[in-house]
Amino acid sequence: ARIVVLISGSGSNLQTILDHANDGKIDGDVVGVISNRSEAFGLERAAESGVPTKVLDHTMFSSRDDYDESLAGLIDSFEPDVIVLAGFMRILTPEFVRRFSGKMINIHPSLLPKYTGLHTHRRAIEAGDDVHGCSVHFVTEELDGGPVILQAKVPIFEDDTEQLLQDRILEQEHRIFPLTVQWLASGRVKLVDGTAEMDGERL
Ligand code: GRF
Repeated sequence: ARIVVLISGSGSNLQTILDHANDGKIDGDVVGVISNRSEAFGLERAAESGVPTKVLDHTMFSSRDDYDESLAGLIDSFEPDVIVLAGFMRILTPEFVRRFSGKMINIHPSLLPKYTGLHTHRRAIEAGDDVHGCSVHFVTEELDGGPVILQAKVPIFEDDTEQLLQDRILEQEHRIFPLTVQWLASGRVKLVDGTAEMDGERL
């Protein structure tokens, strides 16, 4: 499978996907990395692995629709089978999402449907939760709302800071993301009528 990864920052999730693909643990190759920010460290990680990179700076566009139109064309130029949002900090238009429906997945640092949106670790701590986690889901028109494919849970400890919890979650992100990318790349997981299925069984 041809995999395109979209990033905005450090790219630690990108790195784990690159590593898994290079180790043959994913039936596919990362054929392109796109960032909306030129200073994203993930661009260096991609270059290190010899993967072509493109920056599409959202501040150069007058509207979200124009940006997404240009982004969709750039993605299509890589002819991907799978599109991975790995810390891509942009809200995508419904037209864009529809265009890649069933081929695009995202990782979100919470146990969806809890805590959609930002600052999830702080919100979980402030709510006094004793469990938090991360979710990989199909991208649909609903922000952080698509059918969940896989989740991982971690405990929240009494004296947890936002950073400690974020690090604990990130460790789990790096475990579940490459696995779900493999399941999508190999065709085991599919989006069927708005529901995630694995080997034909509803998840
Ligand atoms: C991760 O915490 C992910 O859950 C969120 O953005 C962060 C991306 O981190 N969507 P990285 O750029 O993959 O290191």
